[in-house]
Amino acid sequence: MTAPNLYSSTDTGPRGLSAGVGPAPSPLLLPKSARKRDEHIHRRPDQPRPLPGVSTPPKGKDTPASAVADQDQPAQPQTGNAIATTAQNRLLPVQWAPPPGSLILVGRARGGIGATSFAVNLAIELCSKRATGRSRDRKKVALVDFDVQFGTVANSLDLTDRGGLVDLLRLPRHPDAQAVRNALLTHNSGLRVLAAPANPIPLDALDAPRVAAILDALMADNDTVIIDMPPALMRWIEPLLARAERMLVVTNLAVTSVTSARRMLNILREDAPNLTIETVVSRESKPILQGKLHRQAAETIGAPLSYWLPEDARNARLALDRGEPMVTFAPRSSWSRAVRRAAQTIHKSAARQQLQR
Ligand SMILES: Nc1ncnc2c1ncn2[C@@H]1O[C@H](COP(=O)(O)OP(=O)(O)OP(=O)(O)O)[C@@H](O)[C@H]1O
Ligand SMILES: [Mg+2]
Repeated sequence: MTAPNLYSSTDTGPRGLSAGVGPAPSPLLLPKSARKRDEHIHRRPDQPRPLPGVSTPPKGKDTPASAVADQDQPAQPQTGNAIATTAQNRLLPVQWAPPPGSLILVGRARGGIGATSFAVNLAIELCSKRATGRSRDRKKVALVDFDVQFGTVANSLDLTDRGGLVDLLRLPRHPDAQAVRNALLTHNSGLRVLAAPANPIPLDALDAPRVAAILDALMADNDTVIIDMPPALMRWIEPLLARAERMLVVTNLAVTSVTSARRMLNILREDAPNLTIETVVSRESKPILQGKLHRQAAETIGAPLSYWLPEDARNARLALDRGEPMVTFAPRSSWSRAVRRAAQTIHKSAARQQLQR
């Protein structure tokens, strides 16, 4: 007789929004029809973006002839000078922009599981020299706290929000690179932080185009951008899914946590079928061999149990009270060592993905 699947009693049917009995849950993310309108949201940061609010200048008598010629090139007979100028422009070097950094999402199956602690310490590790394994190579890393109501990233790092995110949301236009840089706080490790507002704001104060602009600016400036995901599935997470390479879901192995991880991922996979998803098992030491229960949990979540963070309530509490990351407060603890290993694996894998792009 085979042992029953502990996770099968709740929600182990086929994946996807339309799976299961009864009406399919309505998509929380933008419907396909809306995506056409918001095409720029899906643009990779290295593709040209139509500047918001900038329209094609009308052809009036004040419009310089050269501007008209640029727009209507095929219709305009070119003079000898114009041909020479066009040829000269073709010889100019193509403007080079560095490839955008990689985006890592950190989500959680349920509250209080240790997702923010992991996101913060992973970010600190990724911008340290240890993760890259080369002494001179310090990576630029940004961490965004999109838990805009009760986010604790700033507190965990002894930083004080100066209203950076709220300023970006108040701008009459989409934030540009400089506005986003101004909104960042810098930790003494070099980590840049876009903190959640000190006073909670409504979750729908953010919108997809603005989030897309913030991400593009951050990814252009940094090697890695880590997102501490909001506690709810908002429409504005679509630009996150469109750009992310990897999602790390923090959970424990309780049936309720595993099934809510599965429910959340079913929805996210609809919009991001190619996202690499891995499970971070919190408050459990890595087993020497993964048993049947572990395999069932991984199958139910639909993502391997890749990283294990042991229980360490004492150091977690002391580090948080001091506003210091656990990896520097207790660098030799098994929790910190586990995060360090995770950072090294993630760094190597991100470097491989970058090469393949
Ligand atoms: N491995 C651990 N062992 C013991 N306690 C931990 C561990 N990781 C985190 N904690 C503690 O658990 C609490 C919640 O952690 P954290 O804020 O990281 O979780 P979260 O999943 O982001 O929660 P939230 O739902 O508030 O976003 C904190 O007090 C933290 O210090
Ligand atoms: Mg959190």
